[in-house]
Amino acid sequence: MKYYPVSEPSFIGNEKKYLQQCIDEGWISSEGPFVDQFEKKYSKAVNRKHGIAVSSGSAALDIAIKAIGIGAGDEVIMPAFTIISCASPIVRAGATPVLVDCDQSTYNMDVSQIERMITNKTKAILLVHIYGITANVDEVLALAKKHGLRLVEDAAEMHGQVYKSRPCGSFGDISITSFYANKLVTSGEGGMLMTDDDALANTARKLRNLYFDNAKRFIHDELGWNYRMTNLQAAVGLAQLEKMDEFAKIKRRIGEYYLKELEGVDGIQLPVYQNEYCKNIFWVFPLLLNKSYLGTAVEFAKLLQAKGVGTRPFFWPMHKQPVFLKMGFFKDEVHPISEYISEYGLYIPCSVSLLESDVIEISNRIKMVVSELKDKL
Ligand SMILES: Cc1ncc(COP(=O)(O)O)c(C=O)c1O
Repeated sequence: MKYYPVSEPSFIGNEKKYLQQCIDEGWISSEGPFVDQFEKKYSKAVNRKHGIAVSSGSAALDIAIKAIGIGAGDEVIMPAFTIISCASPIVRAGATPVLVDCDQSTYNMDVSQIERMITNKTKAILLVHIYGITANVDEVLALAKKHGLRLVEDAAEMHGQVYKSRPCGSFGDISITSFYANKLVTSGEGGMLMTDDDALANTARKLRNLYFDNAKRFIHDELGWNYRMTNLQAAVGLAQLEKMDEFAKIKRRIGEYYLKELEGVDGIQLPVYQNEYCKNIFWVFPLLLNKSYLGTAVEFAKLLQAKGVGTRPFFWPMHKQPVFLKMGFFKDEVHPISEYISEYGLYIPCSVSLLESDVIEISNRIKMVVSELKDKL
């Protein structure tokens, strides 16, 4: 029986050629020429003036939160349903993440809840696009403008995706992305900050490089990190970027095959195909179990694993994270939709390399699990 991992990278372009060039020319650290090329080409693809390549999407978020000046006593509004990388820089800065629940059809932040969370301590909104459908950007931009807030945009899951024809990654005062191996464009590990603001770009460049100052080397005015991306990573990232539009088309086709195959399967909510501002890019293909006989996502995942189908559970919400509860955050907070989907949501294989026949096979195995569970009732 063929095993289907939840995600596999595809190297069908210039990856080997560019890596060979790194070795031949001896540029393997962050000083090499691919870093600059990758920054220029990625930032251009998302219509931004500056791209600052870093070692991960999490590192990019650390830098973004520091660069916009979040500090002790500040509040940042962000989704409850996301990865911990979004909340940890806010907490480390001595600020408070203020959580908003998500919408059950797109899993994105429920924008209608934002305004009532704004206080005189609110400094920024962290907007995160989740799983393939963009968040409602215009409403968030309007709120940020109305209340004089900074906007950080997390477009880690949105390579090749547009909101009303404008690329994701183009909306924040500072935006970030990730090039982790499960992303549509990968450098193995990696990330980038994108901005049009010269001062923010300059600060972000210093923060990623220990706050070195070219004029007075080894004398540091602030604390930064070594969050540099290597030339080797940028070489792979650049080759992947050359395939971004092709990969995005393939992913959308895989999503369409799944929707066709799984439509009407009892007890499973399928992802939205499109809404008024975007067409799903299917970074992942999420399933939400909405009938109790299918059990939790963890139980369902075990049955699929036994049938050779790899899955991942959904994010675990921020207000349920033991680390934050121990620190005194989010006491007694309830975000019902995030709680439900984190328990009953999982995503299934959706690599660029999948053929229609693979999608049919995986879907049949899912239908088998569902019918076995129904038979047990
Ligand atoms: C929305 C989002 N933000 C940030 C990150 C963190 O990126 P990285 O894994 O490169 O640190 C991820 C990771 O998958 C993500 O999905």
